[in-house]
Amino acid sequence: MGSTVVKTRRLTKRYPAVTAVDSVDLAVESGEILGLVGPNGAGKTTLLRMLSTLLPPSDGVVEILGVDIRRDPLEVKRHVGYLPDFFNLYGDLKLWEMLHFFAEVYGVPSDMVERRVAEVLDYVDLAYKRDDYAKNLSRGMTQRLGLATLLVRDSEMLLLDEPASGLDPVARIGLRNVLKRLAGEGKTIIISSHILTELDDFCTHVAFMDHGALKAHDKISEIQRGKCEEILVSLRVLDGGDSVPGALDGMDGVSIVSKNDGLFKIAVNGGLPEVAKLNKALVAAGVDVVELREERAGLEDIFMDLTGDGKEGAA
Ligand SMILES: Nc1ncnc2c1ncn2[C@@H]1O[C@H](COP(=O)(O)OP(=O)(O)OP(=O)(O)O)[C@@H](O)[C@H]1O
Ligand SMILES: [Mg+2]
Repeated sequence: MGSTVVKTRRLTKRYPAVTAVDSVDLAVESGEILGLVGPNGAGKTTLLRMLSTLLPPSDGVVEILGVDIRRDPLEVKRHVGYLPDFFNLYGDLKLWEMLHFFAEVYGVPSDMVERRVAEVLDYVDLAYKRDDYAKNLSRGMTQRLGLATLLVRDSEMLLLDEPASGLDPVARIGLRNVLKRLAGEGKTIIISSHILTELDDFCTHVAFMDHGALKAHDKISEIQRGKCEEILVSLRVLDGGDSVPGALDGMDGVSIVSKNDGLFKIAVNGGLPEVAKLNKALVAAGVDVVELREERAGLEDIFMDLTGDGKEGAA
């Protein structure tokens, strides 16, 4: 396990009309790529801006690498790179000029600037645009240039507000690869999105936000598993499966959810041992099992459950 890079306690931002971030306790370990998901207005941008020191909290504590941001914001700024949701700064500079500027402002030693800028342009695949003006880049390229302005100064922690929005599939894969490489180098990354399926690609962990509150924060795999006190199993059998209901007779906590030809969805209460028991019972009853597998709840379903937009909201 890595060390804790971000820690917040009861972090809160109140505006006159709304509590944008409401008493958030968050701990992020080094090397984590945390996806921060939530609907519009959930408080993602507000949370990221507070972590970046740009926005003062109304209440609560933020520590970055053990340093309280109120005590030493400049020290924190040295470690944190923040990419706002709409990055468009200094469009009248050429790419290499802009990166030189950022490197110098953030104290990269002058004999290293040239090399660092070249490396970073390579890293985000924009070396061939080094002499173009920033304002003439496409949206996806602009996002990657934004990332480059963070990398040129080698921040240990990156806060990226919707970096993947507006990217085409190829650019998304490019971004994912860059983020994976960065995490592999020990950087810690928090990345916000309201597109849930994006997170499978990018993140090791996910936290859900709604109305300013953090609902869950865990490894993606654990969140998917944790929700399932009931495991949904998909079963395919050779013939029509007429013998399946009989085979399940007398098994506790097992029920057929749906049946379509030889394909069944079966709900199993409990864990994987109960799924194994189900398999044995089927085989013992002479059912020709072709496939038996655990179906993971989709992030989308879990998100709907957590935000209450699912069952309750649908009424
Ligand atoms: N400067 C501000 N003054 C007043 N209210 C604000 C301010 N900034 C944000 N809010 C409110 O705080 C809430 C959270 O906004 P925030 O921008 O953090 O949401 P978000 O999760 O980033 O949403 P989106 O997915 O649309 O980017 C919203 O209700 C918003 O209107
Ligand atoms: Mg936002």
